[in-house]
Amino acid sequence: MSTIPSEEVLFHPSSGSDWNGRVFEWNHDIYRAIGPCYVDVLAKLLHEGVLRKLTEQGLLIQTEVTPLHLDGYPMVVKHRRLPFVSYAAEWSATMMKDVALLLIDLERELVPFGLSNHDVNPWNVLFDWTKPIFVDLGAIMPLETDTIWPATKRNAFWPAYDQFCQLILYPLYLMSWGHARIARSLLNDYKGVLKAEFLKLSPHAPCRHQTALPQLGRSVARRAAQMAQRFLPQTVRSVVKTRLLRERIAAPGPKPDIASRLRFLDRCRQEVESIKLEPSDRYWSDYYNAFHGGQVPPFNETPEWTVKNHNVFKILRALGPQTILDMGSNTGWYSQLAATNGNQVVAFDTDETCVDQLYYRARTNNLAVLPLVMDFRSPSPGAGPCNNWLLPATERLQCDMVLALAVVHHLVSKRYLTFGQIAQTLSMFAKRRVLVEFMPPEDQYVRDWRTREFDWYTTDNFLSSLKQHFSRLQILESYPSPRKLILCER
Ligand SMILES: C[S@@+](CC[C@H](N)C(=O)[O-])C[C@H]1O[C@@H](n2cnc3c(N)ncnc32)[C@H](O)[C@@H]1O
Repeated sequence: MSTIPSEEVLFHPSSGSDWNGRVFEWNHDIYRAIGPCYVDVLAKLLHEGVLRKLTEQGLLIQTEVTPLHLDGYPMVVKHRRLPFVSYAAEWSATMMKDVALLLIDLERELVPFGLSNHDVNPWNVLFDWTKPIFVDLGAIMPLETDTIWPATKRNAFWPAYDQFCQLILYPLYLMSWGHARIARSLLNDYKGVLKAEFLKLSPHAPCRHQTALPQLGRSVARRAAQMAQRFLPQTVRSVVKTRLLRERIAAPGPKPDIASRLRFLDRCRQEVESIKLEPSDRYWSDYYNAFHGGQVPPFNETPEWTVKNHNVFKILRALGPQTILDMGSNTGWYSQLAATNGNQVVAFDTDETCVDQLYYRARTNNLAVLPLVMDFRSPSPGAGPCNNWLLPATERLQCDMVLALAVVHHLVSKRYLTFGQIAQTLSMFAKRRVLVEFMPPEDQYVRDWRTREFDWYTTDNFLSSLKQHFSRLQILESYPSPRKLILCER
């Protein structure tokens, strides 16, 4: 058994008070130092084959016991490292729905072993491109454990169910009701969406009456809800059903057996599956159709390709960056082109519908693309004490090459950014290179908005801002003329 020198270990700031196990980085790998109180649980997980089953099913991050030793910890396990870390406020509605289903499926697998996932905080879920995976081994504990949820907050069927509602289910409902921005803002708060907020935001009036339910006798409330259910649309019915379940759960009774826990989870799954996700904003999602005469170009070189398509592809082929960050990706034609070409891609856009569409396509075609909802003007900041529990996007999403195609003019005209701010932001995300498209003042779209206040919007000024961060610039043709692609290298 070799000992890891303590001074070489970097503990993750957010696992500081996790007595079951603390995550740390060592030699560029991710490990978890197992606390003394978790050794028996880990032994059960290993002995009964739970760990193997969960990892094989892709529900839990691949984990292996190591022969390593770290002072103060009886065991050390190693986790597979996922390429990029993303957080709930950056996920599209479909991504959130997939996370909800993952957590329910994981819980379902734990039930027969008398175990439960006691911490369903979405920061315990990461995306392996388009596949969500649970990464906090230490959250898996015996059902009866009372270390995380006090009896008053614990749901007998699934102790972390309240947390699941506040941080996953309610935000998902809000997204489905067209309140994605509210859901995202509240997801930045550690409590997520409180039940009272959820009920107030519900578009379905009958749900609002539920806030008065605690004052009514339980049986009257239940009867009223049952009556209401008969006349309500499916979405509302499921909200009321949740309430009914919760009423039942609150009632004292015998400990639930395996079958009733599984039934509870089946109902949770049905409820999540029934949540319909409508596109929130169609404005940008038709961009490729509109721009390419109603056709989305294929990903293999064809005569239909524009000079922009050809030049971007040529650059990707010639330089072979391992990782690419596609900023303002829209529905991600270039992200998909890059992934098809073997590159690993993180893509972001402000448009929810576009991100959802890219997620759907990448998931269907099993592409190495991680689509996120984010604004170039305000990339996700760090959060938590010392701002380091959640890391800022500029640290998490740095890539070998940044693509910023057909976005600069939007950032100037709609977000009021200067060339200096744009060049600096591009540089913060790029490990090595940036491929940025520039619409010169003569471009027809630029002519439409460029007033005297934007006199400084010239090609020369943009190039000099880029030169502050990159030593070599190469200019290529783009489409439609006179747009240019500028390849910037450090
Ligand atoms: C013209 S499309 C370009 C799509 C793609 N990059 C291309 O070249 O084909 C511009 C995209 O930028 C996105 N966008 C605009 N402002 C943004 C911002 N501040 N942050 C992130 N994306 C933005 C829009 O939502 C839109 O999808």
